[in-house]
Amino acid sequence: MGRLEVSPQGLIDTAHRLVGVGKGLLAMDESTGTCNRRFAAAGIPQTEEARRAYRELIVTTSGLGDSIGGAILYDETIRQQTKKGSSFVRVLTDAGIIPGIKVDIGAKELAGRLGEKITEGLDGLRDRLKEYSAMGARFAKWRAVITLGDGLPSRGCIEANAQALARYAALCQEVGLVPIVEPEVLMAGGHTLERGREVTEETLHSVFNHLYTQNVMLEGMILKPNMVLPGLSSTNQESVETVAAATVKCLLGAVPASVAGIAFLSGGQSAEFASARLNAMNILARSTASRLPWPLVFSFARAIQQPALEIWQGKESQVAAAQDALRHRAHCNHAALQGEYSATMERS
Ligand code: 13P
Repeated sequence: MGRLEVSPQGLIDTAHRLVGVGKGLLAMDESTGTCNRRFAAAGIPQTEEARRAYRELIVTTSGLGDSIGGAILYDETIRQQTKKGSSFVRVLTDAGIIPGIKVDIGAKELAGRLGEKITEGLDGLRDRLKEYSAMGARFAKWRAVITLGDGLPSRGCIEANAQALARYAALCQEVGLVPIVEPEVLMAGGHTLERGREVTEETLHSVFNHLYTQNVMLEGMILKPNMVLPGLSSTNQESVETVAAATVKCLLGAVPASVAGIAFLSGGQSAEFASARLNAMNILARSTASRLPWPLVFSFARAIQQPALEIWQGKESQVAAAQDALRHRAHCNHAALQGEYSATMERS
């Protein structure tokens, strides 16, 4: 492993505790801009105090640790505290939830490639990772986005993002943080499921090539992919079972067996669809014909938080109801890991 200074076993153990014990991850790492956009859409003031209050609502939701093994924070959030003065890192750790941190600084226009993006944040990353580790983070996340469209994605966009993901992952492992590697093939567009599969497969192959080139230990990392879906505006929306089968087949063809686990992003799917599709994949995974080498869990942001955010509306009086909604989604997604989710859970 060359430059790895930390114990590889420590990385493997953390990765296992995150995705190998029948729980999922809660992404609450929206950048300030993204969080403000979601607040604006829900009529919530876009202030630092509102963002803090909302994140306090999330981390203090009782029982969350029953279904959530790790929570991904944002730079502002990892430095914040509850009104009573406990750091969010402390509150999460006490609830049995491992704190993690988003470390990319966003997707910017890719030079010379109209409509495509490259994720930035490698400069100075080693020092930032050390700081986050000292603050209690045990894993990190970096998101790359791949856009589909006329003539898109380009090979240049896929390769540049895959290389950045691999360099980020190697730096994480060097300081003892488990990297979550997130190449997101976006849902936006009118493409077919087959086109979504093709681009996801090409992207994953490129990502694992670069991870290999950069000496990343796959047992000590987690992949956070999109589900294989038709475009949001495609007239051919496929069944839950078709999406699950296409996603599992694509992953089996592109993801090495040694990867510690796969934790899906939700990508703008409805909360119910995200749970139902994850559930269908775990039913498939349990069938002897397609037994899978990795756990399939969730690392949702919108599909786990959105109902709670809409109920909260920024009002203290709505906190308990919003926490109920968050707990409910966490519970539904936890059931989906066992293949035990059903639409009747939504009515109860
Ligand atoms: P969504 O589940 O909303 O796509 O967010 C995933 C993510 O990357 C946040 O960390």
